Amino acid sequence: MSLGGMSMSAMLFILMIGSAFGSTFSSPRWITVDKDVAGELIERFGLAQSLTSATDDVTVLEVGKGDLAKISHFMHSEKKRCGGYQGHYSQEEAVEAAHSEDLRALSQVAFDSSFFLSSASRVETLLKEVKESEITDTIVEMTAFHNRHYQAPTGIKSMEWLKKKWENLGKGRADYKVEFFKHARFNQPSVIATIKGSQSPEEVVIIGGHADSIGGGFWGRHKAKAPGADDNASGIATITEAMRVLLASDFKPKKSIMFMAYAAEEVGLLGSKDIAAEFARKKQKVVSVIQYDMVNYKGGDKSIYLATDYSNADLRTFMGKLIETYVKVPWGYMKCGYGCSDHASWTNKGFPAMMATESTFNAMNKAIHSSRDTLSASGGDSKHAVNFAKLALAYLIESAKE
Ligand code: BES
Ligand code: ZN
Repeated sequence: MSLGGMSMSAMLFILMIGSAFGSTFSSPRWITVDKDVAGELIERFGLAQSLTSATDDVTVLEVGKGDLAKISHFMHSEKKRCGGYQGHYSQEEAVEAAHSEDLRALSQVAFDSSFFLSSASRVETLLKEVKESEITDTIVEMTAFHNRHYQAPTGIKSMEWLKKKWENLGKGRADYKVEFFKHARFNQPSVIATIKGSQSPEEVVIIGGHADSIGGGFWGRHKAKAPGADDNASGIATITEAMRVLLASDFKPKKSIMFMAYAAEEVGLLGSKDIAAEFARKKQKVVSVIQYDMVNYKGGDKSIYLATDYSNADLRTFMGKLIETYVKVPWGYMKCGYGCSDHASWTNKGFPAMMATESTFNAMNKAIHSSRDTLSASGGDSKHAVNFAKLALAYLIESAKE
């Protein structure tokens, strides 16, 4: 049988190629944006059919195919925000996210602010084990993939590689496992490693970062070279180093520890959104969630910056205390001004979450989201990231205790 001169096998071939690059999965048709830019977006992109609803702060908009790329460009060049929107596949989902913003504003889930530091000798001993060369090696390995785009074959391969790497670090430990978290709407899986708590395994202390990368122009991003050395091989490599040190020691946490490598962050925090939704649905007891996104480029005069938006104030105070007690480097605050990374997914579901990053928003590494985001653009070493590896260890040990 043929259609318009095209044979059945040729059509099948095109369909297969299409699905290999993810076109069988539609892109989000709804976005949530801060109310202050919604009006401008409606006017500028003629989003005539747009539905505006939701909370005081957030507006839900319906977008057409191809609009997202233009909106993203507009946010970057005109509004000086990196993305500035969250993508959703249905109106329902978008409205739910907007309502979650209300919950966030009320900050209905408290981080236990009665935290106390009690593990100084364990933390101090393990901080000495952090190796800069290990972080560098992981960044080099991750940037060897052409890209880690959520719709590219290398986006999947890089996650398979990471899962194996994480498994190898905990070989022989009965309290450790590494799993894929599969997503219904796209092929790139997230990866979750768990050290099971010895006393309260149902309570989890989480640290994560996104493992995907993005580059290129508006079209064909799944094909574009995107080493993503700083954004965000640096975050994953740093978390991996904390994991290596912990697993090689005889530290046995009372609470469970989870390391997460999220898929599809660069296209609307999609991976973390699924995971946070699943944890909320299961009523998982989450102690806290730390996000590492871009941790190896020295953009400001301080060494570590804690995000103040989409972030839990008590958790921020706790992290500040850990930096002062153990890492002993200058630190400050930063603000993205929108849900710029996966901590926002957790915050939107009411979990205590926060992001630590390398610089203020304005002084950020300008090479990100391009083929120029290489290790050499971050100075060719991992000195900056070492501070974050130490902070990760202090955070995990002091939160999960032993
Ligand atoms: N790493 C960036 C966000 C970021 C920028 C963190 C500057 C810290 C300082 C992240 O990977 C990113 O690009 N996020 C998207 C979010 C969007 C798709 C919802 C962005 O900002 O465009
Ligand atoms: Zn990032």
